[in-house]
Amino acid sequence: MTGPGNGPEVPAEGGLVAELEHMTEAERAEHDAQVADAVAPDRDMAVEIGQTLLEIDDLTVRFGGLTALDSVSFAIRRGEILGLIGPNGAGKTTCFNAMTGVYRPTSGRVLLEGKPLGKLAKHNITRRGIARTFQNIRLFAEMTALENVVVGTDARHRTSVLGAILRSPRHHREEKAAVEKAMALLEFVGIADRAADKAKNLPYGYQRRLEIARALATEPKLLCLDEPAAGFNPAEKEQLNGLIRKIRDDGYTVLLIEHDMKLVMGVTDRIVVLEFGRKIAEGVPSEIRENPAVIAAYLGVPDDDLA
Ligand SMILES: Nc1ncnc2c1ncn2[C@@H]1O[C@H](COP(=O)(O)OP(=O)(O)OP(=O)(O)O)[C@@H](O)[C@H]1O
Ligand SMILES: [Mg+2]
Repeated sequence: MTGPGNGPEVPAEGGLVAELEHMTEAERAEHDAQVADAVAPDRDMAVEIGQTLLEIDDLTVRFGGLTALDSVSFAIRRGEILGLIGPNGAGKTTCFNAMTGVYRPTSGRVLLEGKPLGKLAKHNITRRGIARTFQNIRLFAEMTALENVVVGTDARHRTSVLGAILRSPRHHREEKAAVEKAMALLEFVGIADRAADKAKNLPYGYQRRLEIARALATEPKLLCLDEPAAGFNPAEKEQLNGLIRKIRDDGYTVLLIEHDMKLVMGVTDRIVVLEFGRKIAEGVPSEIRENPAVIAAYLGVPDDDLA
């Protein structure tokens, strides 16, 4: 492993991969539980498990003459894994962009815990509790994996800029806590062995998981994943399935855009289907698989099937 440079130092846990190999099964389970605990979201939520966490209300997004999203409404319940699927160009990423402040909706609203997001800027939406990954990976290429995640924890920091400049004790404590949390997140997503490597030098699958760790660092109420399995082989997809479940079991709510039907059908609780910007179906995976409108939407799409 290379040195951590000027960034946050990799704590002693940096050697944890070697340690983990020597653990008994019981010790490993205990260790995993501790990691999950360190990673679990720690914030007040206004809605209970199973209640509506995020509501997309009659959302329309137009680009010039093109209607990318056309009066779409659906809700995400706290604690579920909701799939958002549809053929290429259906409006899935546009929906994420409208939810996270990248685009302003032409009309309609997005409500988190019953409160409209209105015209909040991107970083304020992150603070309110929506985090996302990108269809095309966006990491700080020259920063280490650990630093990329520490940056994510900044969204939850409370010290002022002045506190940071004066290196107040509170700032110091927060920085130490951020590094520890970031390390736990790297372990949680399974890439702690490369904590000190620059993001650009990580294998592709690691970069995708690093993006998830960075999004989780903001302690989101809702985690939105845009095609996290793109470019993955079947074994990696299987691992990702496990990771998404683990994230939910840890107390997060997940919105998943994904083309791989095996993964979508296997991991989601419910699915919303878009086609040409319209919602054409919503239901549990077994209903969606048999829905004639969904089957028709996917006919002629060569790379995926609804098997
Ligand atoms: N910034 C933009 N300006 C103009 N048109 C856009 C813009 N972003 C998206 N679109 C168009 O809106 C439509 C929906 O695109 P979107 O990226 O939301 O689809 P998607 O469902 O995510 O597709 P894919 O599965 O290919 O990622 C497409 O026709 C796309 O070309
Ligand atoms: Mg997309």
